[in-house]
Amino acid sequence: MVFGAGPLRGEVRVAGDKSISHRALMLAAAAPGTSRVSAPNRGEDVLATRDAMAALGARIDDQGEVIVVTGGVLRDPAHTIDARNSGTTTRLLMGLCAGRGLHVRFDGDASLRRRPMERVARPLRAMGAEITTNAGRLPATVRGVAAPPGGEFALEIASAQVKSAILLANLDAAVPVRITGDRFSRDHTERMLRRFGRSIRFDGRTVELDPGSLVAQDVRVPADLSGAAFFLAGAAITPGSDLLLREVGVNPTRSGVLDALRAMGADITLENERELDGEPVADIRVRYRALTATTLDGELVVRAIDEITILAVVAAHASGTSHIRDAADLRGKESDRLTTITETLRACGVIVAEHDDGLDITGGSARTPERTLRAHEDHRIAMAVAALAAPTGPHAIDDEACIAVSFPDFVPLWQQTQLSAR
Ligand code: S3P
Repeated sequence: MVFGAGPLRGEVRVAGDKSISHRALMLAAAAPGTSRVSAPNRGEDVLATRDAMAALGARIDDQGEVIVVTGGVLRDPAHTIDARNSGTTTRLLMGLCAGRGLHVRFDGDASLRRRPMERVARPLRAMGAEITTNAGRLPATVRGVAAPPGGEFALEIASAQVKSAILLANLDAAVPVRITGDRFSRDHTERMLRRFGRSIRFDGRTVELDPGSLVAQDVRVPADLSGAAFFLAGAAITPGSDLLLREVGVNPTRSGVLDALRAMGADITLENERELDGEPVADIRVRYRALTATTLDGELVVRAIDEITILAVVAAHASGTSHIRDAADLRGKESDRLTTITETLRACGVIVAEHDDGLDITGGSARTPERTLRAHEDHRIAMAVAALAAPTGPHAIDDEACIAVSFPDFVPLWQQTQLSAR
């Protein structure tokens, strides 16, 4: 398909938060009783989690806007769990299953089969679970322990998926669980555990979960800041844009994208800030303004890990050279995002230097590409192309179907905000 030029205007509520939707469905399935998850993300990744929880024994009544889950007792699934494209489904469920004495085989699509799984397998083995991987990748099997040990864990990397796997693996531990070594990776699991009745403390560095049990809950899922980021970026770089994004999650462990855009001079205001079932949300207003280059590194990169590609697009429209560092983990995402965004930007005439752990991007020379851009089976690369086209002109992309992984309605919503600008 072809993404066109034009400012973004009007009001939208983007898809539900993917990370929060996974956690709500998993804890709803683990908690005795009936929970209702409303406004969930309906992308393929979350549907993979929904189907996995059903295969693990939860009763699921998917009504679309609401998913009703009756949980409590999980059992060995009759077949391999197919996590499709979803790293979060795989890694978090490896943890949950490892702490419930379950025997489960996990597999996924070609892209997920390339992604590293030892980062989760290692701490789960340390607590006694038997984990096999295919040279560190999928397919993997988990043979869990019936009585998880709790105790101390040190994170090797600041990964919310690894931290969450350890927490979910130790839900039934008789002693507290303490995880150190975090660097502000997203804390949605911690917040969701609190919502489901658990006593837990967390400060961005250390997590402490007390022994206890889960209580079924109703949860409304905020709109996904990672999905909103494409609209924020498109509007921030396209003259004439003025857009309001409603009920967006602005959790500080996710809001690095807002800090980065502001550091570049973007006109962003948060309105109606409030809490929604344990998560901070706001309506975000963004208007076009000329931008300048910035540096993204350290904890800011952790707090914007899924937004670095779209921030690279913004950097291509900011005056000066922006630097991205400490972002080597992007090479293990749905695609090697440092390489795929470099290829995308260079095809549009942008000057980019690629480093092991980052990029230097010089703004000001972006133009319409002469060839069709490649999505590399990566939803976030495909959506970044939409933002890239908004200020300059038509950009063709070879595959927009992959966007359904996180944001099935992205294309109509994008076109609607460009139409309301006419
Ligand atoms: C996620 C954590 C991040 C992120 C991914 C979703 C989560 O991965 O990139 O898209 O929901 O926990 P890491 O934990 O590997 O950094």
